[in-house]
Amino acid sequence: MSNAIRPLAAGNWKMNGVTASLAEIKAIAEAAATEAGGADVLICPPATLISAARAAAGGKIAIGGQDCHAKPSGAHTGDISAEQLKDAGASHVIVGHSERRADHGESDEAVRAKAEAALRAGLTAIVCVGETHLQREAGQTLTVVGRQLSGSLPHGATAQNLVVAYEPVWAIGTGLTPTPADVAEVHGFIRHELVDLMPGEGAKVRILYGGSVKPSNAAELMAVGNVNGALVGGASLTAKDFMGIASVYK
Ligand code: 13P
Repeated sequence: MSNAIRPLAAGNWKMNGVTASLAEIKAIAEAAATEAGGADVLICPPATLISAARAAAGGKIAIGGQDCHAKPSGAHTGDISAEQLKDAGASHVIVGHSERRADHGESDEAVRAKAEAALRAGLTAIVCVGETHLQREAGQTLTVVGRQLSGSLPHGATAQNLVVAYEPVWAIGTGLTPTPADVAEVHGFIRHELVDLMPGEGAKVRILYGGSVKPSNAAELMAVGNVNGALVGGASLTAKDFMGIASVYK
């Protein structure tokens, strides 16, 4: 079933990137059709660059945000709504990244509200889940991921407007990755939960793996069952590294 799902190669630039970095987006966009024609390609730059990134991408790749507020507008200094991201040219938004769950204390409930805001604005929500090292050591990985899924997935989502990203917290930015068998176990579990929570749609929702994906390990990780693409942090900052990953889908 997962073979029929068109993969997504996504980059999360986090708090990196200035105007000069648009050259990387341009290069990724230029290479996407020939180097990664079997996948959709998405870059999520900081919000300051979304408009310009959209122009640099020239419609060849998608551009997304990294977070949104749950409300459409109002007195929330420094926040950005899903509607504003959409207006700036985003088609996707990441919600519930572990860095936001940790740095900003975002609960599953808050993440669900943000994901529902994304759907309301016509964006695709990329909902992130994943266990800490301590939770994995304690054998709680599936319990934690299951709780995050049931608590933070938006109501009324479809396979078109929802993507799930499994990002083990201990694998992010560390160079460590789970074994393919461990990835298979968690992605299989997520698929099972999605089918349960979203009858008729859950079988088609894309499940991305994220956490220290590099050109050197991408082929192995992307070949795992129920892995429908990657959410890449550090290695998405240059066209060279990112295309070294996305070209798995040549
Ligand atoms: P790294 O690829 O830098 O480990 O980051 C992964 C991530 O957090 C993507 O959202």
